[in-house]
Amino acid sequence: MYDSGKIISGLIIFLIIATAPIWYTAASGGTTKGPEPEIITTEKQCVRDTDYMRHDHMELLNEWRDQVVRGDDRVYTTASGRKFEKSLSNTCMSCHPNKSEFCDRCHNYMGVDPYCWSCHIEPKGGSR
Ligand code: HEC
Ligand code: HEC
Ligand code: HEC
Repeated sequence: MYDSGKIISGLIIFLIIATAPIWYTAASGGTTKGPEPEIITTEKQCVRDTDYMRHDHMELLNEWRDQVVRGDDRVYTTASGRKFEKSLSNTCMSCHPNKSEFCDRCHNYMGVDPYCWSCHIEPKGGSR
């Protein structure tokens, strides 16, 4: 006769080992989805809160462009009172110079391709 207790515990051990990658991913927070844009600046805050930036940065860029081009209004003041030049290349790209690991990573993931860089200076050589 086989020892059914040993067979069952053997099966349980096998199942735990076979599914270990799933447990591991779940336990470590499961960060295997999404475009994962890289933040390389040592600054802690963007020009607006992260949630707004994540979803609505194009609105802000449009506002900046209109204010600069139509009103020659070039100074942006954040909620905390910090001042920035309203500039795509000089401001956004000074904190996010890694365009390909930041902007492009999300845009490629979402299938959007902003046409800005035919006129605006794109940071070169840019990862770090
Ligand atoms: C002073 C430095 C600084 C400037 C200037 C700046 N950012 Fe940021 N940005 C950050 C930091 C730091 C974070 C991450 C904030 C966090 O993790 O809460 C961030 C986050 C973001 C995010 C969200 C990323 C994510 O993980 O979802 C987007 C999008 C973004 N920035 C776009 C821009 C754009 C567009 C501009 C120009 C209008 C800009 N940033 C200007 C520092 C900056
Ligand atoms: C967290 C992901 C993410 C990051 C990081 C990000 N974007 Fe975007 N961006 C998007 C998404 C998603 C859209 C499209 C939104 C839509 O179509 O409604 C978009 C759209 C845009 C648009 C409008 C494009 C169009 O054709 O309408 C501009 C301009 C833009 N992003 C600039 C930037 C710049 C510059 C950076 C880097 C400083 C950046 N984005 C970083 C997600 C991101
Ligand atoms: C056909 C050329 C062209 C294209 C394409 C273009 N821009 Fe511009 N943009 C300009 C010019 C010219 C100015 C005025 C520059 C100045 O007065 O400093 C400007 C100004 C701006 C400004 C304010 C000043 C600055 O230094 O950034 C922002 C922000 C801006 N554009 C965002 C965008 C974004 C975002 C896109 C892509 C969705 C875009 N532009 C595409 C030509 C262009």
